[in-house]
Amino acid sequence: MPHAPPTPAARLRAIKRHVWLGRHGFLATCAPGLESLVAEEVTRLPEVIAVETRTGAVAFEAPFDAVYPALLRLRVAESLRVFLVQGVAAGSFPMLFDQLQRVRWALWLPTPCDATVRVRSSKSRLRDDAGLERTLRRALRAGGVDPGAGEAGEAGGGEIGVAPPVTLHLHVHHDRASVTLDAGGALHRRQGDKWVSPTTIRETTAAALVRLAGVNDPANEPDLLCDPFCGSGTLLAEALDALSGAAAGRARGSEALAIPVAASPAWKPERWAHARRLHGGPGALAEAPIVLASDADPSAVRAANHNLETLGYADRVRAEVAPAQSLDLGAIAADRAARRPLLITNPPYGRLAGARGAAPRELLRTLLGTAAGWRFALLYPRPSDLEGVPGVELLEVRTIVTGGLRNAVLVGRVNDRGR
Ligand SMILES: C[S@@+](CC[C@H](N)C(=O)[O-])C[C@H]1O[C@@H](n2cnc3c(N)ncnc32)[C@H](O)[C@@H]1O
Repeated sequence: MPHAPPTPAARLRAIKRHVWLGRHGFLATCAPGLESLVAEEVTRLPEVIAVETRTGAVAFEAPFDAVYPALLRLRVAESLRVFLVQGVAAGSFPMLFDQLQRVRWALWLPTPCDATVRVRSSKSRLRDDAGLERTLRRALRAGGVDPGAGEAGEAGGGEIGVAPPVTLHLHVHHDRASVTLDAGGALHRRQGDKWVSPTTIRETTAAALVRLAGVNDPANEPDLLCDPFCGSGTLLAEALDALSGAAAGRARGSEALAIPVAASPAWKPERWAHARRLHGGPGALAEAPIVLASDADPSAVRAANHNLETLGYADRVRAEVAPAQSLDLGAIAADRAARRPLLITNPPYGRLAGARGAAPRELLRTLLGTAAGWRFALLYPRPSDLEGVPGVELLEVRTIVTGGLRNAVLVGRVNDRGR
């Protein structure tokens, strides 16, 4: 028997009782190494309890309404998911189906929908991904939701192309199954028309660097920010957002940046509008630091200026073409009478970024050699490249994994040896 209540009014009553008035499990995923930053972000959301850090994710409990501020405020999290099923017995396919067909799918999912099912099974008897997906799709149909044909190729009545896309993650671990619904899509996306380069980093990674650099920390607040390898400008955009209190998700909900969970019958457009008014920013930059951006690649500079302009920062920073070897950071800080200058950058290190004019190690060492009196925050995988640069003091090395690759956030300062 399908669980879908027979009339729209009955369904609304059921949504109110089971979704709006209930508490739910959420999962905010992130790059491994950045969990503690996501846990801090999550803890600041309203009515959140039971925050638990896992590898590459933070689990928490909250009312459904936490989804609105979360989609606006989370900066370091890569995705936000809601648990629709948690840890049910999945020792066999009949057992799994029996558990899944009890779920009130129709309170959460639009029907028809165009469901993508991502399956992961570990340390469990059920390891046939296609079989697991088929079982979930059968349970969805039993629950009154037409999930479309999907990759499993089963018949579905949904009109593909019209039905809203929905992504479900079915994870089986130690013979226990959980299903999460992706709420916000790729949270690293902040604007619909970002210009990128082959080395553009994710905004979520940039946000982590900004946090670890203490850009917003009253004890450190920089009066000069400089990114001399700015690429498409991601780091400075995140820094300016952090300084102005702008919400990461302020452009979400537009056609170019659709919110998957907005197609759910449980979504409340008026709540989203309210959350945008409350948390949507941007605020004003109070004590605005001077912001400098440059890169040796003219096309990267064009992308940076486009992106910073789109985000509303054209009057704050204009990226320029300049090889980093030509910069004397000490002179730059002195010219601007900066007392707390911060070098925040992602220097070239791999093949794609193509360090120009010198090897990556030499480029970075040369630059830091001019940076007496500066603090620095680098996204750079080889801390050993900084060894022996006079005055350089590394205060934090945090290894992170982005896109399956190891990288590191290096935070430190260059001591002013002249005093
Ligand atoms: C890892 S990428 C930075 C990507 C940037 N964080 C973003 O999100 O787009 C390194 C950048 O260093 C630039 N670059 C390479 N050699 C340079 C040099 N000698 N001086 C200045 N920039 C250089 C590359 O053009 C590239 O944009």
